[in-house]
Amino acid sequence: MGKLVICDHPLIQHKLTFIRDVRTNTKDFRELVDEVASLMAYEITREVPLETVKVQTPVAEMDGKVLAGRMLGLIPILRAGLGMLDGMLKLIPAAKVGHVGLFRDPETLQPVEYYTKLPTDVTERELIVIDPMLATGGSAIAAIDVLKKRGCTQIKMMNLIAAPEGVRAVQEAHPDVDIYVAALDEKLDDHGYIVPGLGDAGDRLYGTK
Ligand code: URA
Repeated sequence: MGKLVICDHPLIQHKLTFIRDVRTNTKDFRELVDEVASLMAYEITREVPLETVKVQTPVAEMDGKVLAGRMLGLIPILRAGLGMLDGMLKLIPAAKVGHVGLFRDPETLQPVEYYTKLPTDVTERELIVIDPMLATGGSAIAAIDVLKKRGCTQIKMMNLIAAPEGVRAVQEAHPDVDIYVAALDEKLDDHGYIVPGLGDAGDRLYGTK
């Protein structure tokens, strides 16, 4: 079973409260999501392996640590996932970015893939699928399906807020995928919104309704 990691750093929790606040305007919402994404990038890369290299300081030679060349890929789910992308790239500038676009079929209510563009070396990369809200888990599961069908094996999921229903669904469908969230909320309402959540992440990021 994949692990669920709650990124409970005080700065993340502080900013998340303002993100949730209905009075927060689009500009501030976008900036706060960007900042939390950077802080979460720090948490999600905590276990990235290091290797030792020799470095000459002005005083002496020493063994320094650098990232051991394991390459990362960021996979925002369109459109709300884009809101967390730049914040992550600030900390992981060498990551490549793939996009997965999904819409919900109004009749079957199932996610349908309408756009996928992935780095050519995607199967060699450790991937982080990004979406602010993990609600039913339908889009997350479908996006991970898309990546696995193309041969990707190392996949993590990152969300601002998750509902227990979504976490369970992803863990059942993809037990090899660890999930990183800033908060695990109470439940889904009858319309599939996370309670208490933050409303519609895409609309709040882009000022749409
Ligand atoms: N997507 C959102 O943007 N918000 C929710 O609460 C659930 C899904």
